[in-house]
Order: sequence, then structure tokens, then C-alpha cells
Amino acid sequence: MRCGFLSKVLDLPPENLIKSISAVPVSKKRRVADFQLSIASVTEDSSSDCLAPDLNLQAQKLAERLKCDAVVSEISAGPGTVNFTINRELLAKTVLQQVLKDGSEYGVKSELFSTVPKQKAVIEFSSPNIAKKFHIGHLRSTIVGNFIANLKVALGHEVIRMNYLGDWGMQFGLLGVGFQLFGNKEKLKTSPLQHLFEVYVQINKAAEDENTKKLAKDFFRKLEEHDEQTLSLWKQFRDFSIDEYIRIYKRLGVHFDEYSGESFYQEKSKEVLKMLENKGLLQKTIKGTGIVDLSEKKDLSSFSTVMRSDGTSLYITRDLAAAIDRMNKHNCDTMIYVTDKSQSNHFQHLFQILKLMGYDWVERCQHVSFGLVQGMKTRRGEVIFLEDVLNEVRSRMLQNMASTKTTKEIEDPMETAEKVGLAALIIQDFRGLLSSDYQFSWDRAFQSRGDTGVFLQYTHARLHSLEQMHGNEQLTDINVACLQEPDAISVLQHLLRYDEVLYRSSQDLQPKHIVSYLLTLSHLAAMAHKTLPVKDSAPELAQVRHSAVRGRSLCGADPVAEALVCYSVHFSVLSLYACLNPSAFPVDRGSAVFLPLAGCS
Ligand code: ARG
Repeated sequence: MRCGFLSKVLDLPPENLIKSISAVPVSKKRRVADFQLSIASVTEDSSSDCLAPDLNLQAQKLAERLKCDAVVSEISAGPGTVNFTINRELLAKTVLQQVLKDGSEYGVKSELFSTVPKQKAVIEFSSPNIAKKFHIGHLRSTIVGNFIANLKVALGHEVIRMNYLGDWGMQFGLLGVGFQLFGNKEKLKTSPLQHLFEVYVQINKAAEDENTKKLAKDFFRKLEEHDEQTLSLWKQFRDFSIDEYIRIYKRLGVHFDEYSGESFYQEKSKEVLKMLENKGLLQKTIKGTGIVDLSEKKDLSSFSTVMRSDGTSLYITRDLAAAIDRMNKHNCDTMIYVTDKSQSNHFQHLFQILKLMGYDWVERCQHVSFGLVQGMKTRRGEVIFLEDVLNEVRSRMLQNMASTKTTKEIEDPMETAEKVGLAALIIQDFRGLLSSDYQFSWDRAFQSRGDTGVFLQYTHARLHSLEQMHGNEQLTDINVACLQEPDAISVLQHLLRYDEVLYRSSQDLQPKHIVSYLLTLSHLAAMAHKTLPVKDSAPELAQVRHSAVRGRSLCGADPVAEALVCYSVHFSVLSLYACLNPSAFPVDRGSAVFLPLAGCS
């Protein structure tokens, strides 16, 4: 849109403008222009700070040289920028038409993405360990990975969602022995995650005893030798756990295309060790372990252990085999791993070894890491199961709903509570930079006012009910002359920035740009609601519709045009929500949604 508006005034082909023109962020305090051209991005040698005054001067000169036309109504110079104001009516018309035309693909179809090639990405996320805790790090990996996958899909890329389970290793020796002692087949079927965890805790207590240790070792050895009975019990642990995970992930709106796991790479990691040896990369230590030297000077100042002294593989060996297999199988353009930052070293080593092995595609692998979250507790205490978090979200939100007088009668309060609560949880998590640690607070996350997921849900519900009341048939008659109030202009200007925000998040994979965009959008929508009321009763509506066609309104402003602003906001809210987590947002639930703010019903 920006290029179309400005290419004539600047006398430059649109494709030259894509990267140098941006929409000006809306400001509460003052009226702002619509677009700005950054002088630094159009002049070549602009990296040095000492050029700043020169940039200002250049901006001024350029602004003086350019002439307004029917499209651009004002041109001014700012610090290092030339600012443009578009003819107000044209702005309103173009933005609204674009939103209506592109619908849920608004922003995605922007020229900003025209040069970005469509890619295939394997995104590995969640990846919990069977029989161990599903801790908050796994929860964060799940929602962040899902966000990245949703965003990429929304932008037209091909995505494979992969869950790489911790389903192998000595813990299965202990678990096997534990199951023989304390296990119960019925419980394994009905609640595998909880039962296996309990068995694991019990056997760990007993593991001090030398005999138990020996039994566990034997069990794991039999597993590695593919003893039929042992393998069949292990397979039941795995299969039942996956079934339960699928059910719980569904509540979060998450699914996987592939359930992979460390167990797949037991044999293949032997091949990796052979390859390392053949390439002269594997060194034996006095203790008999196998290491790869990662130091530049080859003085072992940095190394990675890839083989135990008994010749068996480690976590990193299985990851090496898994990465090679993923690339062979999917031939993807990018491979992303989402885990907390405590594993940054692991992934650095993994990528370094792959590089030494000659796999140039490692350049296209990326570890997306995130910070630690403290203080998330449920009624049952510290987080052990994902399901506990989801139940806590639901019951806390139900309680909030019960104590809010303005809550509407709703069909399925449990489901609504869960969706609104999940939005609250996700937005709290996505507001900051992923790498920052933060202190979790249920109260802060669940506030109905302020920058929370509850507020977004509320805005969404309000817009949705507006949309339902006004229907779509009005969208053809846009009287843009009635959309000139500052609050309407602010919404339009904010909508102009939507593609840039999507672009930014797609580049650095940080959800916070989208979240803060959405929150601003919701604040602007709230303001527009107050100052630009849309009439909602049917007979009145018929009257104002009529007046809107005549270009005049009975109530000061044009409700049709105002409704359009709301629709536009709504469309972009919807498509953004879809990136965050579609199932956390009750998009098809109409207005029958929890309305937590006083005075809104
Ligand atoms: N299961 C591991 C854990 O819970 C996370 C796996 C991360 N992915 C990987 N390819 N190593 O710590």
C-alpha cells in the first residue's frame, strides 16, 4: 500500500521503496503523519553516527523538493526522515478496501513479503520426557513453537511440527524395574503420564539399593538389545503417553505432524560415531569416553563428549543422528529447535559438530531459546503435568467469571473459561522478549483491565458482537468522509503498520511485536467505541444506513463507516490471534463470551 501511495511523489519505482518506507506508529499525544521515508536506508554510506546532522539536512532538502499531489497532502522533514500524510479520504478508503478484500490475509499479502521466498521448515518444540515432569520450560516451548509454526503457516510457508520425546536412556531401565514392582496396567491405560511419573518417583527412592541399580541396568541393556518383552513394555509406556499428550495438547490448540524421539536414534547414533571416527574427529580420553574437539586451536579448550566409556550414545549423539535424519528426510530450508536457554550450549555444540562433519546446511539450523519462568504453582503445588496447568487456568477463570456481575449467560462456561484463561497465560508469556526470565503471576495475567489476554478476548468479543449486529451487507457503502475523527484516523494508521509488525515477528521470531500491536489495537478500538458509537438497534440502524448513503449522519458520525473501522480491526485481530493460538480464541463463539469489564454487557 505504502509503495502505491508514494512512488509517484518520490518518482521512484515501488519496489525500491519497500524497505525504506514505514508506517508511523500512532501516538496518543499528537497527530502523526502516515508514512516515513528513512533517509539512512536510501543513502548508501549511512552506518556512521557522525552523519546524523547530514541526514537531517538531506531529509529537509528532500522534503522541500518534493511536491504534494492528489494522494499526498502533506510532506515534512523529521529527524532523518521525510514524513508523508496521505489524503484522509483516500487513506480511509484504501485501508478499508484492502482489509475487506484480503480478509484474514490482510497484511500477509503485503508487498513486504513479496521478496521472501516460500520455505519449508521443520520446527521441533515441546519435547517432554516420558515419566518425568512436564515443567514450565516444556510449556513455554509448546506455546512458542506453536506460535512460530502458526506464523510461518500464515505467511505461506510449509511447516512440519515435530515433537522429539525424551523416550530413551537409563531412566527407562529404572522405570521398567519400577513398573514390575509398583506398576498397574489399568492405571497405565487410564492415566499413563501420572502413573509413570509416580512409578518413577517411587523407584528413584529405591534406587539407592545396589540390587535395584543392577536390575535397572539389566532392563535397559535388554531394551537396547531389542528383547521382545522388554521392548513391548517400553512401547506401551510410549504409546499410551503419546495418546494422552495428544488429548491434552488439543486443549491448547496444538498438534504435531510427527512424534519423533530419542529412541529412534539409538542405532543411527552408532553410525554417527563411525562417521566421526572416519573423519578423524573422534578422540578417545583416558577414561575411555569419546570426545570431539571444538576449539579453534585444536587444544581441547572446548570439546563435546559424544560417547560413554561403554561405547553407548549420549543426548548429543542422538541429536546429531536426529538432525542428519531430519534433513535427509524432509530436505527443509530451515530447522528450528525451541527450548529454554539452559540448552544453548548443547545446541551450539550440536551445530559446531555438524559443521565439522561437513554439513553446510547447519547454517540453516536455529536454536530459538527462551528465559526461565519462576513461580508458576498450581493448587497441586509445583507444575508436574501440563493438564494441571490447564485445569488451573480453567478453574481460576471460572472463579473470576462467577465473581463478575457483567458476565453473560454462556453456553459452555468451562470451555469459555479455558479459552480466555489460556489467552491470559499466553499473552503474559509473549509480552516480553523471549530470552528474558520473568516471575509468573496468576493475578497479573488474569486482570481484566490492562494489557492482558483477558482484555484482548474482551475486545474480540465486543467486536464480534458488533459485527454480528451489523452484518456484512453494509460493507459496500463506505462514506469515508465520515471517518475523519482523530480516533478513526488512529485506527486506520495503526492498521497500516500491521504488515510491518508481522514482518518483524517473522524475522526475529519474537511474538512480542504482534502482542503489543494487538494491545494497542485493542486500546484504539476501545477509544473508538467511546467516541464513535455504532448504533445497535434495528430500526435506528435502518435510518442511519439510509443517511449514510446520503453522506450525512443522524447522530453526528456515520455508523456504517464506524462499523467498518471495527470490522477492519476485527479482521486484523482475528488473523493475529490465529498466529498466537487459534484455539485459545473463541472466534466462532459470537458475543456469548465472558465480558469481564464493568458496565459492558
Ligand atoms: N527432552 C528434552 C528436555 O526435556 C528437550 C529436547 C529438546 N530437543 C532436542 N532436539 N534436544 O530437556
